[in-house]
Amino acid sequence: MNTITAAITAVGGYVPDFVLTNKILETMVDTNDEWITSRTGIKERRILKDEGKGTSYLAIKASEDLLVRGNIDPLEIDLVIVATATPDMPVAATAAYVATEIGAINAFAFDLQAACSGFLYGVSVASAYIQSGRYKKVLLIGADKMSSIVDYTDRSTCIIFGDGAGAALFEPNFEGLGLQDEYLRSDGIGRDFLKIEAGGSLHPTTIQTLQDNKHKIIQDGKTVFKYAVTNMADSSELLMKRNNLTNEDIQWLVPHQANKRIIDATASRMKLDDSKVLMNIEKYGNTTSATIALVLSDFESLFKKGDTIILAAFGGGFTWGSIYLKWAYNKK
Ligand code: UT7
Repeated sequence: MNTITAAITAVGGYVPDFVLTNKILETMVDTNDEWITSRTGIKERRILKDEGKGTSYLAIKASEDLLVRGNIDPLEIDLVIVATATPDMPVAATAAYVATEIGAINAFAFDLQAACSGFLYGVSVASAYIQSGRYKKVLLIGADKMSSIVDYTDRSTCIIFGDGAGAALFEPNFEGLGLQDEYLRSDGIGRDFLKIEAGGSLHPTTIQTLQDNKHKIIQDGKTVFKYAVTNMADSSELLMKRNNLTNEDIQWLVPHQANKRIIDATASRMKLDDSKVLMNIEKYGNTTSATIALVLSDFESLFKKGDTIILAAFGGGFTWGSIYLKWAYNKK
C-alpha cells in the first residue's frame, strides 16, 4: 500500500477593499512613510470597515475564492479549521459558522489559536488528519480582522497590522508530495511581550479594564523582533540540515509577513537568493494568521509540481516553527 502524504491541492485569498496607506497613518499618529517602509517594509494594509462584519466574513470570502479556483464541491469537505486570533466571538467557533456559510454542511469545524503561527500549526494539524487516512478533504483558513484589536493611537503597533484571509485545501497524495517535515515550538515566556491583557479568563472585562485600554494588542517590538529573527532562522536551518537540503534544493521560502527585516534575516541564514523569497508585506502588512496563506494564494502561479517550499513563522505566545513541503500541482 502506498504511504499517504498530505498535500495542498487548492488555495484562495481575500483582502478587504479599504487601503490604509502610510500617508493616511501619518495623519493619525506621529509617524512617517520613510520610517515605516525602512523599519518594516510595509507600504499599505487592508482594513475591513463595514459594520457588522467580523473575521468570518474574510474567511468565507477566501474559502469561496478557493472553491471557485479549485472547482471544489463544499459538500465533500470533511473538516474546516479557522486559524485566528480574532474570532467573531469568544465562544461559538468562527469555523462552525464559516463551514455552514460556504456550504460545507458535512464537515465538522473548529478554531485554532496560535497567533501569527496559527496557519503554520494548522498545516501540521490538517496534514495529520489526512495522513492518518481519517479524512479526505480538510479546509484550513487563516483569517484575522486585526483592525478590531489594534489601538490606532499606538504608533508602534497600528502601522504593522492589517486584515485579510487565506485558505488552503489538504488532500491525500500518493506520489510522496505535500508535507515532508516540520519543526514546531512554543515558549510561554512570550505572553509578557505580545498580548491583549484583558477580556479572557485571567482578567475578565470590567469597567476598569475598559478604562485602562486593556483590550487592544500591545507589543514589546524590540524583544519580539529578536526572538523572531533567532527562532525563524534557527528552525528553518534545522529543517534544512535534518533533510539534507541546500539552498539550491529550495525553490521558495514562504515566510510569515511581520517585518521585512525578519524575513531578510531568515533568508540570509538559509543563504537563499532574494528571488526565492516570497513577500506581499508591502501591500497587506501583518495579517497574523493569514499571511502565509495569502502568499500561497498570491503566488500560486509560480509554483510547479515538485517544488520544495519552506514555510516559516513566529508569533505571539511565543509560537514558531518551519515546515518543509513539496508542492503537488501545476496551476491549470
Ligand atoms: O507577527 C508577530 C510577531 N511580531 C513581530 O514579529 C514584530 C517584531 N517587531 C518589529 O517588527 C519591530 O520591533 C517594530 C517594527 C515593531 C519596531 O521597529 P524597531 O526598529 O524595533 O523600533 P523600536 O521599537 O526599537 O523603536 C525605535 C524608535 C523609538 O524611538 P526612540 O526611543 O529611539 O526615540 C520609537 O519610539 O522608533 C520609534 N518608533 C517610531 N517612529 C516613527 C516606534 N514606532 C514608530 C513609528 N514611527 N511608527
